[in-house]
Amino acid sequence: KAMEIVKEMQEKCGTPIGKLKQVADAMVVEMHAGLASEGGSKLKMLISYVDNLPTGDEKGLFYALDLGGTNFRVLRVQLGGKDGGLVNQEFTEVSIPPNLMIGTSDALFDYIAAELAKFIAQEGQEFELPPGKQRELGFTFSFPVMQTSIASGTLVRWTKGFSIDDAVGLDVVEELTKAMKRQGLDMRVSALVNDTVGTLAGGKYSYKGVAVAVILGTGSNAAYVESAQAIPKWHGDLPKSGEMVGKVYCSWSSHLPLTEYDHAMDNESLNPGEQIFEKLISGMYLGEIVRRVLLKMAEEAAFFGDIVPPKLKTPFILRTPDMSAMHNDTSSDLILVEKKLKDILEICNTSLQARKVVVELCNIVATRGSRLAAAGILGILKKIGKDTVKDGDEQKTVIAMDGGLFEHYSEYSKCLEHTLDELLGEEVSKTISIEHASDGSGLGAALLAASHSPYLEVEN
Ligand code: BG6
Ligand code: GLC
Repeated sequence: KAMEIVKEMQEKCGTPIGKLKQVADAMVVEMHAGLASEGGSKLKMLISYVDNLPTGDEKGLFYALDLGGTNFRVLRVQLGGKDGGLVNQEFTEVSIPPNLMIGTSDALFDYIAAELAKFIAQEGQEFELPPGKQRELGFTFSFPVMQTSIASGTLVRWTKGFSIDDAVGLDVVEELTKAMKRQGLDMRVSALVNDTVGTLAGGKYSYKGVAVAVILGTGSNAAYVESAQAIPKWHGDLPKSGEMVGKVYCSWSSHLPLTEYDHAMDNESLNPGEQIFEKLISGMYLGEIVRRVLLKMAEEAAFFGDIVPPKLKTPFILRTPDMSAMHNDTSSDLILVEKKLKDILEICNTSLQARKVVVELCNIVATRGSRLAAAGILGILKKIGKDTVKDGDEQKTVIAMDGGLFEHYSEYSKCLEHTLDELLGEEVSKTISIEHASDGSGLGAALLAASHSPYLEVEN
């Protein structure tokens, strides 16, 4: 019976190439609809108000806050202008206390402003600014925001385990600015960006060919450079560059191979019915899907013996890093799997056969996730016409990638790269490269703060 459950899972999670191409094509259709009008598509396409990516000429001292991943970061960067590059970068990071993720808007913003104040209080005199000049800040806020300018935007909804009702609909820059004032900080937010947009900007600083940024971490999302004329819902002036960075929200669900476990997890989540694609491919959810299948095997097929292990009933107890460790166990008797099952789920005395089944399950869930993520990337490459080789295209198209899932879950990232190659074919995949833009989004936010600074210092 337990093997039947695994077999059924395997079948339902199937992602043959034809299916992935269907997902990519459906995504392109939804992207067009999402660019045509707000609410025109299940796939949200949010505009970033970033119409120029960093050139490398930015100069001066800038700060950044990066909220929304596993850790909250405060950064300071010193940009040296045309030939100076990145002179200095320093940061601190903390994890947001779980009670603040579901508390009030003021409590969250007070906490992050206090961390910023602490960081600034510790810095040396060399970072003091001349009188009358405000410190400037790029704010990476990795949740869906409807921007109203480069430095303002309202929170559409929370994702990834955050749920603070009174913040929805508020301008997050205004909230941060008020909290900074409460901390006695005289600082100005010059750019509000999503982590994908930050990664795109940070990536561009290192790799000229960056056209797409993808985050595969706690949550998942992407941003890419779109031609401004291809955005019918944009009613502002056409930017000089003719381009605009758009964000693609993983918010649609057509053609996805969903199982009863995904439906149940979604129903019990903080945002039911939302971000279905994200829930199949991201770090916050993969371990939880595995836990749900194991629980069913324990309940219906006594997979772990007569008693259902009580810990197995705790939502989110099996984290994706632990799943990754089990998946990656190369020892012949799967010692690490044994240890994880014991330490996390208090399941002892498992047979080697049972441990092999656990690894197989991790493989099924991670493979589905990474192959779907590759299909999502194919969708974006199709949208910008980079899924074919064109004469005269000399520069490689670079995808700047970041997030703990991609960085640490090697089976997942290997499978993703392999699937993308398979989807693109040999000739096209030679023209595309994936680069890990580690922590690029904070740097990107600082760079965008620099290029949108009222005291713009750009060397010509
Ligand atoms: C980081 C970015 O590098 O990646 C964050 O700076 C982003 O803003 C994060 O949210 C995603 O990774 P994770 O795995 O921490 O969610
Ligand atoms: C979630 C957020 C999104 C972010 C992504 C990656 O999907 O809603 O804004 O970009 O996670 O961190």
